[in-house]
Amino acid sequence: MKTNFKKELLIAKKGGYAIPAFNFDNMEMLKGIIEAAEEKKSPVILMVTESAALYMGVDYVFSLGRKAVELSSVPVILHWDHGFDIDLIKRAIDSGFDSVMLDSSAKPFAINVEETKKVVEYAHKHGVCVESEIGHVGGKEDDRESNSQQYTNIKDAIEFNKQTNVDALAIAAGTAHGIYKTKPDLQFKLIEDIVESMETPIVLHGSSGVPLIDLKKAIKLGITKINIGTDLKVANANAVREWLVTNKDGYDARKFGKAAIDAVKLAAIEKIVAFNSQDKANNR
Ligand code: 13P
Repeated sequence: MKTNFKKELLIAKKGGYAIPAFNFDNMEMLKGIIEAAEEKKSPVILMVTESAALYMGVDYVFSLGRKAVELSSVPVILHWDHGFDIDLIKRAIDSGFDSVMLDSSAKPFAINVEETKKVVEYAHKHGVCVESEIGHVGGKEDDRESNSQQYTNIKDAIEFNKQTNVDALAIAAGTAHGIYKTKPDLQFKLIEDIVESMETPIVLHGSSGVPLIDLKKAIKLGITKINIGTDLKVANANAVREWLVTNKDGYDARKFGKAAIDAVKLAAIEKIVAFNSQDKANNR
């Protein structure tokens, strides 16, 4: 069912849980995510990155995402993740996405502010929420790889929030996108200080591979949206690989597809339970 991004995040903040935000790259991943959320009665954020949308076909993905929201028995937020192209972000807004993320985090502060304000103005006119990033989360996000990692500066975060009027703020506090090459090193004090400095919900990207105990601690400090991509991609790929190795002459896409759905569902359930969003679908 449809709901409002910011409203859900503020409810989560009060309720001491985080809404899991999962990326999907194909229909099997989408189905696994929705089945997990429905089984655990959890609100969920269904995210599609720009490059995943270009892979699946922008119009296909719009229809698939909207249908998932409409048919689901739990609150589902359809979210455009890591938008770099403002024209595509506008298309997502026009086509019924509930929220969009602009990622201008690698650009200078003033340009990040200016571009975010532009997106906020357009999105809010259409009743759509906006997430933007301050500081820079590095690592491998889909086809993009960034070696720079820049912790969020708290003064910049406060100023950015004030100037842009965003609905959620993604921060860089020791996580990185993709498979970790070195151990994640969450900056809990920084998270705590930023959360306390503003009402705006705070988002953690690059959360695959981060020990659940650390994510739970971050939630206690007030993180309300946690992005998970890689862990579900790995679950999906491993399930398909295993099925094809076990069934050497197998060719039915529905069979290895089903194995992928089940594996993604299991991986999503693990996060839902850890983020304490289980049974919060009617928490309003
Ligand atoms: P991971 O792939 O590292 O989980 O990051 C996902 C993400 O932050 C999407 O915005």
